[in-house]
Amino acid sequence: MGKLLKKTETKSSSASSSDKRERRVLKLYEQLVEIEERLIPTGLHVFGRVAGERSQADMLRMVASFDREEKGARALTDLVSEGFGLGDYQSLLAASFNNGEALKSRERVESIVRKSISLFLESGIDAAIAYLEDSAHVRAQDSRLMFALLENISQQLKTNGELEALARALRGEYIEPGPGADIVQNPDILPTGRNTHAVNPYMIPSEIAFTRAEHVVKHLLERHLAEKGSYPRAMALVLWGLDNIKTQGEGVAQALWLLGVRPVRDQLNRATEVEPIPLEILKRPRIDVVMTLSGIFRDLFGATMNLLDKAVRLVASLDEPPEMNFLRKNVLRQVEEENFSFDEAALRLFSNAPGNYGTNVNFMVMDSQWDSGETLGDLFVTRKCFAYGRDPSGRMIEGREARSAMERALSRVEAAHQNIDSFEIGITDVDHYFEYLGGVAKAVEKRANSKPAIYLSDSLSRETKVRSLEETVRLETRTKTLNPKWYEGMLAHGFRGVAEIESHVTNTFGWSATTDAVDDWVYTEVAETFLLDEKMLERLSNLNPHSVHSLVSRLLEAEGRGFWKADTHMLERLGEIFSSLEDQLEGII
Ligand code: BEZ
Ligand code: MG
Repeated sequence: MGKLLKKTETKSSSASSSDKRERRVLKLYEQLVEIEERLIPTGLHVFGRVAGERSQADMLRMVASFDREEKGARALTDLVSEGFGLGDYQSLLAASFNNGEALKSRERVESIVRKSISLFLESGIDAAIAYLEDSAHVRAQDSRLMFALLENISQQLKTNGELEALARALRGEYIEPGPGADIVQNPDILPTGRNTHAVNPYMIPSEIAFTRAEHVVKHLLERHLAEKGSYPRAMALVLWGLDNIKTQGEGVAQALWLLGVRPVRDQLNRATEVEPIPLEILKRPRIDVVMTLSGIFRDLFGATMNLLDKAVRLVASLDEPPEMNFLRKNVLRQVEEENFSFDEAALRLFSNAPGNYGTNVNFMVMDSQWDSGETLGDLFVTRKCFAYGRDPSGRMIEGREARSAMERALSRVEAAHQNIDSFEIGITDVDHYFEYLGGVAKAVEKRANSKPAIYLSDSLSRETKVRSLEETVRLETRTKTLNPKWYEGMLAHGFRGVAEIESHVTNTFGWSATTDAVDDWVYTEVAETFLLDEKMLERLSNLNPHSVHSLVSRLLEAEGRGFWKADTHMLERLGEIFSSLEDQLEGII
């Protein structure tokens, strides 16, 4: 990168075009770093088997880039950056996006951290500590705490008791419990092979989750304001159970922040009440939120549903100017103009009917069983229009069909959002993100007569990231589907690896079907990488012709449905590949 910058500088004729070019190169660099920084799973987890050395090193590096307050350990990136007198790593990171010098320093810090982890793995704690002391003036007592933690993690990564625990479970024996999260968020999940327990719903959201959510919501609203010229008057949120377990309720906390309320804890430290954050402190309107809860969330978080329902009713009852309280404005208008009762107009929590799960939008997409996008949005509402909250007499309602209340709430939505909770699973790894976030967006599109802005956020790295869906699809495509490091990792698993590639493309297609957020180049490069490259095609077809067949037909379907403008030659070639695979599968050749 340093070389690239120099070259740009000397080549440019005028100072201003050199500046411009430098900014563009830095911007490009920022995107490359973003891709590089994500922990890309380099293969599937094989039950019972320990992770490879490289993936262990990647995990340790990620763990070491966060402060571990509970262990008194500071992030190695901060220690090295401060050792060089560059201040904390976060500031260096921010400066590196518009300053070539800061960028070089940042690369130096990162490469030293990386090397210290390799040394730690090869030669042990003392070698790594001495290296950081010599090369970056990091005091031994400061880095020792982090390396002690890494040592512990590294030992636990070397053993795997999953198969043995499974066998014990099948014999009906006791399995030790352990928390559910990912290793970066909570290294105490190790060793694996334990009985994953959830959280106490009364602790949700935790203090940390509430603090993190404040940043996410701030970025989200600022972004919407900058791009659309106003705050969203109503937002659709997707809340999942496992997500809120792993993050201790970040999704729940985001909903509370949008409404502008904070949880109040009782004497047993249980979050059972909410109180409004005064508008003078909030300094923005309260946003109306329509929440789609997964069936798992509904089953696990009864107490949290009460809390969210209380929050909605409290905010709808505040005596505040309508332009500062969009929820109240919407509820009152519905009561006055449409003859809804207050309770009915204030329903904001929707999930499946009791005992049911999922939207089925994913199945409809995968089976190609739909004509227009409307069908997908309608299916979403049919599955998810069961209200949870309170009835006019104050009794809890648990899954009463309330289609018109949901449709009315969705008709005002201007933006949709979901939290990403894990380093390992992104929006094209599974079909659930598009069935939920894509599904609700499609339902909004028809009822609001316009497409909502769609955002995803994660607080996985040190910086809070809020991305548009389009940006997230591009990032996922670059870091996974089209990244040789990812697909070669998958192909090492043979038959299943090809199925994974196909499944990523189908999930990407799911985003086209529900939101049209996929650029043409995504499909074009998928075709070029996996099908038009003769050697690759042969390799994939030998490993798993069924998945290759599905992949080709999915691409042809994307073109047929107008999601992809492919050139004629490419289509012809895909058609040929399709026919020849059909023949092969039918045993003709
Ligand atoms: C959940 O954790 O709520 C969830 C998990 C998988 C799919 C959908 C939802
Ligand atoms: Mg398109």
